[in-house]
Amino acid sequence: MAEKIPLSLTVNGTAHTLAVTPERTLLDVLREELRATGTKRGCDQGSCGACMVLVDGEPVFSCLSLALPLRGRDITTIEGLGAGSELHPVQQALVQHGAVQCGFCMPGIVLTAKALLDANPHPTVEEIRQALGSNVCRCSGYAKVVGAIASLGEPSGQKPPTGGQP
Ligand code: FES
Ligand code: FES
Repeated sequence: MAEKIPLSLTVNGTAHTLAVTPERTLLDVLREELRATGTKRGCDQGSCGACMVLVDGEPVFSCLSLALPLRGRDITTIEGLGAGSELHPVQQALVQHGAVQCGFCMPGIVLTAKALLDANPHPTVEEIRQALGSNVCRCSGYAKVVGAIASLGEPSGQKPPTGGQP
């Protein structure tokens, strides 16, 4: 078995120091070492977006990201959003628009949407669809997801999305 190597990183504002083998992914570390199981393991090969987290504010597939190169980085998972029992505004909007069905895709979608809105507070529907291009949802048909995110940015002159792929 490969030797474990020390790894320090910050997850949701808390500094952690662990020892991990070189093949461990960020998803492995989050779910199995830190028990941050809000980050989902779907395809485990970069195709579904269920494992999406933010690294220094940018969405990444945690299933494809080896943990050791992330030494010193700042990770945000779904557990880091909201305050106590209060949902993050993206989560509130998704609930209010009836976009949450089985919910498996939602941690990834919420974090992708947060990154988009942080960088671009008034995205167009097209920009939202583009941003969500790596997030698969098998339940919603995407229209309500896109509509929820659009409502936060209040884009002017946009018609509500009518469905289809993001
Ligand atoms: S589990 Fe990482 S992209 Fe599907
Ligand atoms: S709500 Fe079920 S996969 Fe998106």
